[in-house]
Amino acid sequence: MPWDELKPRKFVAFERELDGISRQTMEDHYKLYEGYAKKANECRKILNEFDYSEIEGNQVYSPLRAVSVDYTFALLGYKNHDLYFGHLGGEGGSPQGRFAELVGAEFPGGVAAWQEAVKKDASAARGWVMVGYDLNDGSIFNYIMDTQNLWAVYNMVPVLAIDVYEHAYVRDFGATPDGRKQYVEAFFRNLSWDHVNRQLAQAEAARRGAEQSGAREPEPAGAQSS
Ligand SMILES: [Fe+2]
Repeated sequence: MPWDELKPRKFVAFERELDGISRQTMEDHYKLYEGYAKKANECRKILNEFDYSEIEGNQVYSPLRAVSVDYTFALLGYKNHDLYFGHLGGEGGSPQGRFAELVGAEFPGGVAAWQEAVKKDASAARGWVMVGYDLNDGSIFNYIMDTQNLWAVYNMVPVLAIDVYEHAYVRDFGATPDGRKQYVEAFFRNLSWDHVNRQLAQAEAARRGAEQSGAREPEPAGAQSS
């Protein structure tokens, strides 16, 4: 399917009153998301329209390099927020469903220990905490990212995304480490575990599909399963 322009989507979270995260914060935040879509489209168009027979390739500075790098910032800015807004507006509570099952089986100490870890990760990251499903080995893990695009990992499908940029919480909770902690608590009170589980179901289906289609190379007999 050829690439098409990104369009900002509508989200349930904007039709509901969130607990602790104000409407004004959400509306201001949405404007950033619209900006990421616009700039991703702009960068992609420029990259498609460069005359590659003429353009300079230079690793110190070149327009090709600059737009290529900033494209990833804009594109992931769009994708990160698409998940973030998509899974707000829920009922919160403890992790549920398949997500809880996988994390409970995999994380040392189980679901409660995972939740403690992810909250601490939210204090350690400068941009995002991504809980991701790895298409290669089927594991689920907490990752931190310092910007929209920095430390993103291949084949890791984000299923839960906590935006810890200050724009996500300063208006409601203040620009302090404690304010961020309060925001993270509010984030979990508004999280839709159904949405998280839908993301996870898509990722697991993609991994299964690759296996069933034969696209995934079978492991040699006797090899340890990863
Ligand atoms: Fe954000």
